[in-house]
Amino acid sequence: MTIKVGVIGAGIMGADHISNLASNISGASVSYVADIDADRAAAAAVPVGARATTDPGELIRSKDVDAVVIASHDSTHAALILECLQGTKPVLCEKPLAPTIEECREVVAADEEIVAATGRSLLSLGFMRRFDPGHQELRRFVRSGEAGGPLMVHCVSRNSTSAPDATTASAVTNSAIHELDAIPWLLGSAITEVAWHAGKRTTAAPDGLQDPALMLLRTADGVLSTLELFLNARYGYSTRCEVVAERGTASLTEPALLGTNAARSHSTAYPEDWRPRFADAYRIELQAWIHALQRGEASPLANARDGLRAAQAADAMIAAARTGLFTKVDYS
Ligand code: NAI
Repeated sequence: MTIKVGVIGAGIMGADHISNLASNISGASVSYVADIDADRAAAAAVPVGARATTDPGELIRSKDVDAVVIASHDSTHAALILECLQGTKPVLCEKPLAPTIEECREVVAADEEIVAATGRSLLSLGFMRRFDPGHQELRRFVRSGEAGGPLMVHCVSRNSTSAPDATTASAVTNSAIHELDAIPWLLGSAITEVAWHAGKRTTAAPDGLQDPALMLLRTADGVLSTLELFLNARYGYSTRCEVVAERGTASLTEPALLGTNAARSHSTAYPEDWRPRFADAYRIELQAWIHALQRGEASPLANARDGLRAAQAADAMIAAARTGLFTKVDYS
């Protein structure tokens, strides 16, 4: 059975998901595209033979849509998810679940009502690092204990340029949220407390954004993780992660298709943004979601509770940015 997918938001991520679903994912087709920008919706829909609309509700209610992907602005996620759940449509929402804990709680409550009634969640969350082959290998290394238990983790997340409306808080809820999910997933241990420190501010940071920042995360197992988040690094996109264990370390390599030698130097290219780095992860995640839907199985993707936990850690991080103090994460 082919799953007919409706995609809400035809920007950078929506367009990427549409092209994957139409060309690289077995058992799926794109039947509908919604974007508040009519031209963008049409430009994404026409090449894959889908219908276009400016009304996401029309897409969610359509009999021509079996499942929904939400790839619109973070601030729209909670309301659109709730509409999908009300219409009993399976939905894969891009991270974050929502920018605020209140919205996340509302979504978790609606999701849990459906699970209580039907035994199965309809909601999957796009924390795609869980499907990145590099991150999976790193997790296998940690869990195998082959170099002893983990002691520290060092992450670096650099983007070429931030969104013009990025703020210190949205840098946490939109970008650092990846590590706030990936680190506990990697270690199998919840984040208990966090701290945030400003770097010297880059001249490229827009008003309201402290960039770069150094974040510290303590997990229940005692491991200390560091995250340098630099959204206006300009030279390219780069994600790094190194685990320091008792008797050895493991780190993600920077994937590159080509190394060049010229003028007495060796070089590899950095991508402009995250899409080439995580192309496999997006594809593998989408395929896992479609397979689960086809087989009527539980989704192997991150769930609503994962989204709420990451939002709770983000909330503590934003509080820590105000005080400069280690701040406990409140999971109540
Ligand atoms: P974008 O700004 O390129 O695209 C967003 C699109 O959504 C725009 O075309 C906009 O017109 C449309 N839109 C906004 N509100 C809408 C609404 N109510 N209904 C329908 N369409 C609406 O943004 P981008 O970079 O594609 O990000 C989209 C989502 O994906 C965000 O939530 C972001 O956090 C997430 N994301 C996830 C990544 C990952 O690695 N998993 C990477 C980048 C973004």
